[in-house]
Amino acid sequence: MLDLRNVLSPIESANGLPNACYTSDEMYRHEQESLFTNNWAAIGFGKDIAKPGMVKPVTFLGIPMLLVRTRDGHINVFQNVCRHRGMILVDTPQQLRGPITCPYHAWSYDLEGTLRSTPHVGGPGIDTIDSLDHCDYPLITVRSHVWRDIIFVNVGGDAPDFEIAADSLVSRWREFDQPVFHGGTDSSIIFTLDCNWKLAVENYCEAYHLPFIHPALNTYSRLEDHYNILDDGGFAGQGTTVYQPQITDDGRHFPRFAALSDKWEKGAEYVALFPNVLLGVHNDHAFAILLTPEGTGRTVEQVEIYYADEAACDDGYADMRRTNTEMWRTVFTEDVSVVEGMQRGRSANGYDGGKFSAVMDKPTHHFHKWVAQELSV
Ligand code: FES
Ligand SMILES: [Fe+2]
Repeated sequence: MLDLRNVLSPIESANGLPNACYTSDEMYRHEQESLFTNNWAAIGFGKDIAKPGMVKPVTFLGIPMLLVRTRDGHINVFQNVCRHRGMILVDTPQQLRGPITCPYHAWSYDLEGTLRSTPHVGGPGIDTIDSLDHCDYPLITVRSHVWRDIIFVNVGGDAPDFEIAADSLVSRWREFDQPVFHGGTDSSIIFTLDCNWKLAVENYCEAYHLPFIHPALNTYSRLEDHYNILDDGGFAGQGTTVYQPQITDDGRHFPRFAALSDKWEKGAEYVALFPNVLLGVHNDHAFAILLTPEGTGRTVEQVEIYYADEAACDDGYADMRRTNTEMWRTVFTEDVSVVEGMQRGRSANGYDGGKFSAVMDKPTHHFHKWVAQELSV
């Protein structure tokens, strides 16, 4: 086990996480078994299973899972495996018309996971058998919670309820606790990054790189307009005090979230909720970025942009949505070279985890401490 005590030191004397945390398969597995299993981690979005009966298979921590939208509209997450002979139940996202039916011997489960039918289980034409009580073989439920359309799971099952675990951020953004509406196909961006997932979190947390990596953004949202956010409730990031909502030449703007306080007139915040969600809130839109680790040096980054009112998702706002998506695509594309460059840098065996700026790197240090603590339990 790596000695991570120095990561936990005060920022003035701490080092960052050592190279092995970014390059070692053993550390990657340890992360999967600890911080991803023990906490609430994100695995998808409700908008991807928007209608009752829609299902989507995903793999998380190597476990095949199935996201399910039920008839009454709530979301269930199951392990995507049949209780009979262990066949994968669903291979591709789809709209089901009936139950979840196994392609092998046609055992079927309703959308709540209850085993409903087992054709020929007792012999040809006999669909029941005394030795199998359907109640005893439901789909295996994965503990899940949906917040801001993000589907979280706690695979280990022992984390506090999501509302308690994430209380600090939920409370901080209580004013945004209102419906969000995904902008549609023009409001999604996917990147595949050649870097460890943690580098995407670290880069997102800090504003220090703004003048150097985001020169256009920096012309109106300068370094001095940003503040650090650190919270022992498992998140860190930064905020700005000069957010300017998009206004078209003919004066149109997106509908705004209702009843926001003055802080949000020009304020916006960007926070990484550990381990793997990056969030942004503004008075007229929000986004969520799901980081899915695919090995030590590869991460899929799924950006989804949401609006305050269904009307903003109509054709009438298509030009504005596209402008907004392209603005964020530009910013996040600018970040790719640094997160991938830091990953390559982790192969320099003389690098000791790095020296923090005691002023500018506080959110990054906060995240490193969280990781070190989670890896040490
Ligand atoms: S494995 Fe699913 S019905 Fe046999
Ligand atoms: Fe950036």
